[in-house]
Amino acid sequence: MKYQHEIQKRRTFAIISHPDAGKTTLTEKFLLFGGAIQTAGAVKSNKIKKFAASDFMEIERQRGISVATSVMSFEYNGMLINLLDTPGHKDFAEDTYRTLTAVDSVILVVDSVNGVEEQTRRLMEVCRMRATPVIVFINKMDRDGKNRFDLIEEIEKELNIHLHPMSWPINSGKDFKGVYNLYDKSLQLFTANTKANDEDAIRISDLKDSVLDDRLGEKDAALLRDDVELVDGVHGDLSVKDYLAGQVAPVFFGSAINNFGIKEMLDTFIRIAPLPLCRPTSAREVCPDEDKFSGFVFKIHANLDPKHRDRIAFLRVCSGKFERNKYFHHVRLDKDVRFSNPYTFLARDKDVIESAFPGDVVGLFDTGNFKIGDTLTEGENFYFTGIPSFSPEIFKEVVNKDPMKTKQLEKGLLQLTDEGVAQLFTQFGGNKKIIGCVGELQFEVIQYRLLQEYGASCEFRAQPFYKACWITSNDAKKLDDFARFKGANTATDKDGHLVYLAQSEWFLNTERQNNPDIEFHFTSEIHKETV
Ligand code: G4P
Repeated sequence: MKYQHEIQKRRTFAIISHPDAGKTTLTEKFLLFGGAIQTAGAVKSNKIKKFAASDFMEIERQRGISVATSVMSFEYNGMLINLLDTPGHKDFAEDTYRTLTAVDSVILVVDSVNGVEEQTRRLMEVCRMRATPVIVFINKMDRDGKNRFDLIEEIEKELNIHLHPMSWPINSGKDFKGVYNLYDKSLQLFTANTKANDEDAIRISDLKDSVLDDRLGEKDAALLRDDVELVDGVHGDLSVKDYLAGQVAPVFFGSAINNFGIKEMLDTFIRIAPLPLCRPTSAREVCPDEDKFSGFVFKIHANLDPKHRDRIAFLRVCSGKFERNKYFHHVRLDKDVRFSNPYTFLARDKDVIESAFPGDVVGLFDTGNFKIGDTLTEGENFYFTGIPSFSPEIFKEVVNKDPMKTKQLEKGLLQLTDEGVAQLFTQFGGNKKIIGCVGELQFEVIQYRLLQEYGASCEFRAQPFYKACWITSNDAKKLDDFARFKGANTATDKDGHLVYLAQSEWFLNTERQNNPDIEFHFTSEIHKETV
């Protein structure tokens, strides 16, 4: 229990949303409150700096998406908050899913005009899988959005989670007057572009208070009274226990761009959001307050700094204390490693750190030792589980365009797939290299990076596969026979595990029925359960 004090003050979370719902804007406002940045626009301009600094990032700039996952840390009311940014583009969804394995809770931003969108749905599925506690922020109330009750109903129904309104809006669009805080019964009047703070909240004794009529006008005051009666009647008090179990999501209404409704959400967040949690491993559950250090790599990023060609592995600390220059055990490689320049992140500015505690994310310079999911410990042999590779959905054969650069191409493919950009398969019995991704854009990124970083040029040839499943069996002969018989439809992944490449759902179902002794897995997790 040595580090209890450090653990108690840490909150590690991610903001997730469909692109354009306002994630970046909200992130920026959080950083302003935390004093981590001084001016509005800093997050965006920081992005631009990043794009200009690296050729790879130029792709992002052109596409207008954020590929990189960065980590921002700031202090707020005595708490140390680690905010993990996630790419919004769906082609990089796998990256986001893995980042979600490294957080203890999330804030989900929903655009009040568009309601639940495709990415909102997908991301929430991942949260539901892990029972991650969620706070919902309904953004852009300054625009004419959907009816507030309809929005709540839509989110509950589509995302399959109970919502618990913590604030309630008074109109929207040009008639938006503010929000009523259901928790501390105060009224926050909307003013555009202000740094709203507690002093601006108008306390009211109860809803009958005539201050409401004075401030809102009789019509809107009456509307609010009716709404609140209805909402209170249905929802009652928030059960923090249900929130922590991922069953109920507190909801706030606001406008990120106008800095409205954010502070009260942040205050609630630090009051109820979970501390760093215990996590399952291949051997046992590991809890943050254990004396010995452990952590896992959830993300690897290349060339964040154009001056260095190293990669940076992002390590989530799960227990004990991470220390600079101390030897830790790299479980997969079964060797001891130490780090002389571990970094913490504030957006792109990195600071060397001496130590880190559960909940923190540390950036480790890597020259090829790490893969996604790798575990570091103080000697014990276990893997953190639940950091899966998902079965990809688009497959292409890599065709080498420059035989003189074969070695570079192979090296590049291995390193890029270690980063989790894509998965690499080798067709059974042959040498055909097949890349599997979740999105088309990733192929372009791979092609570009192979050329820029490794000097290797390649083309891709589409493959008629629909899904890759890892296959296992208690009967080694049956598995071997299956692989041989299916020939071009089987492959090995980078770790030598057998994979079945199905042409269609029909083929997949048929093979499953015809081969009851073979198990088909949709994530590669299965291979990590024992060390
Ligand atoms: P994202 O990271 O989720 O993709 O969204 P981002 O914050 O970049 O916001 C997307 C757009 O929505 C931005 O406008 C942003 O200014 C706007 N926005 C964010 N919050 C609000 C809000 O509360 N009200 C309104 N009306 N707009 C909001 P943009 O035109 O795409 O970019 P910019 O020119 O403002 O940078």
